[in-house]
Amino acid sequence: MSVAIQNKRLSVPYITTGKGQRKLACLTAYSAPFARLMDPHLDLILVGDSTAMVAYGLPNTLSITVEQMAFHAAAVVRSTQHACVIMDMPFGSYQESPEQAFRNSARAMALSGIDGVKMEGGAELAPTTRFLVERGIPVLAHVGLMPQHVNTMGGFKAQGMTDEAAARILADARAHAEAGAFAVVLEGTAEAVARRITEEISIPTIGIGASPACDGQILVTEDILGLSGDRIPKFAQRFADAGALISQAVETYASQVRDGTFPTLDHCFGVKKKS
Ligand code: KIV
Repeated sequence: MSVAIQNKRLSVPYITTGKGQRKLACLTAYSAPFARLMDPHLDLILVGDSTAMVAYGLPNTLSITVEQMAFHAAAVVRSTQHACVIMDMPFGSYQESPEQAFRNSARAMALSGIDGVKMEGGAELAPTTRFLVERGIPVLAHVGLMPQHVNTMGGFKAQGMTDEAAARILADARAHAEAGAFAVVLEGTAEAVARRITEEISIPTIGIGASPACDGQILVTEDILGLSGDRIPKFAQRFADAGALISQAVETYASQVRDGTFPTLDHCFGVKKKS
């Protein structure tokens, strides 16, 4: 090894060892300006495959590619220095085999500089988690409601509502913890189930529509900033109305352009100031 460049980011082991000591504040980001503003306040930034829906207006997360995700992830990594940055592996880029998952994850890491990857899947995916972790790729598991399974689930439906379903999600989370995942996202999961998983597994749980008892929380940033239209998901809360602010600023800009009050000579080059 040569002289290492100092990396001041929160590391993956920092995330894992905080279980029971500190709650993890996590959000999604897809672009440099948002990531820059959010970075000092967060433990983990996820470049989620919700990029497909939020940034590209697609109906679900299924059609985004590794390359598209890596471009967004690189922008987030370049504009942050504090939070741990994790990227979602897109649908079809890891489910086929551990080898396929390793190849695409390593490529995403090389293209973007992310600290690790997230993959959606139950216990059947745990051998892939193990394969990646043993080869140096940190894995954030994702169980419960898995948006990449939208077609087999028949929509985005809360999970863990029966004893059988609850036991399955617990087994899924446990399998990934045992396989070496550094944390697990519990999405759209019955509160009591998420609470029990948090108590029973050794790695941090990061909830979204899960339980206040989770070791951390994650949301889609646009949902908490008033940038997702009028609909606020049940599990989110609007912490600011940036949508109204942006709309008002653009309206003022447009009216000033139309009535000739912007730009003025102050905004031009080669204009001598009158003394
Ligand atoms: O893609 C995403 O945004 C997610 C959530 C956990 C926030 O996976």
